[in-house]
Amino acid sequence: MSEIVFDRVHHRYGERHVLRDIRLRLTERRIGVIGANGSGKSTLARMVNGLLTPTSGTVTVDGVDTARKGARVRRQVGFVFTDPDTQIVMPTVGEDLAFSLRRSGLDKAQIAARVTEILERFGLRDHADHPAHLLSGGQKQLLALGAVLIRRPSVIVADEPTTLLDLRNARIVASALDAVDQQVIVVTHQLPLLDTFDRVIVVDEGAIVFDGAPADAVPAYRELIE
Ligand SMILES: Nc1ncnc2c1ncn2[C@@H]1O[C@H](COP(=O)(O)OP(=O)(O)O)[C@@H](O)[C@H]1O
Ligand SMILES: [Mg+2]
Repeated sequence: MSEIVFDRVHHRYGERHVLRDIRLRLTERRIGVIGANGSGKSTLARMVNGLLTPTSGTVTVDGVDTARKGARVRRQVGFVFTDPDTQIVMPTVGEDLAFSLRRSGLDKAQIAARVTEILERFGLRDHADHPAHLLSGGQKQLLALGAVLIRRPSVIVADEPTTLLDLRNARIVASALDAVDQQVIVVTHQLPLLDTFDRVIVVDEGAIVFDGAPADAVPAYRELIE
């Protein structure tokens, strides 16, 4: 597993302070982040791969500062967004997966082999030439996850990857995430998903108010909102 360290991280957008003194050392394989809307979860999640850098403090991944070496960190940490439409860029499923490897240095045959591997893994083998925008919501999110996995990152951060999906598709995407070998950090409102996690962090108004086992985090979160 990678070691992700938040050291005295603060973040503000203009005058609005959205993260306060975050100190974390994340080494577990399955980590959940929960909290009310607007509590700072996405801001925190985006910092893990340098999509956002802190106003003060540092975030490092295996000692590499996300603010200094963003591109390097992003090769190691993949990010899955809530809305797969923002992540899918190419017209067809196969092209979209291949596009993820455009700067990988792999040759055409190697790229084709990896694309086939992902298509098979996510049951999209017959969809290689299918227009990506015509996939179901669940298939789109699997494609978005596939486009991250194809680069073989060591960490995957997913920001509410099932929030826009119906229950059935949410389950499919959740079990796909559950099956990956990588270290996974998931922001979610789907609390049952966290049952098997190693660690759950509860965020409230930009601060960590609970950090521990899922069995204790969920009651802590419920208490907070009641
Ligand atoms: N780009 C931005 N500019 C200004 N404020 C923002 C921006 N992004 C988020 N915020 C604000 O920061 C706070 C935390 O947002 P966010 O991290 O998205 O929370 P969450 O993911 O928990 O809903 C919210 O009050 C939100 O309105
Ligand atoms: Mg969010």
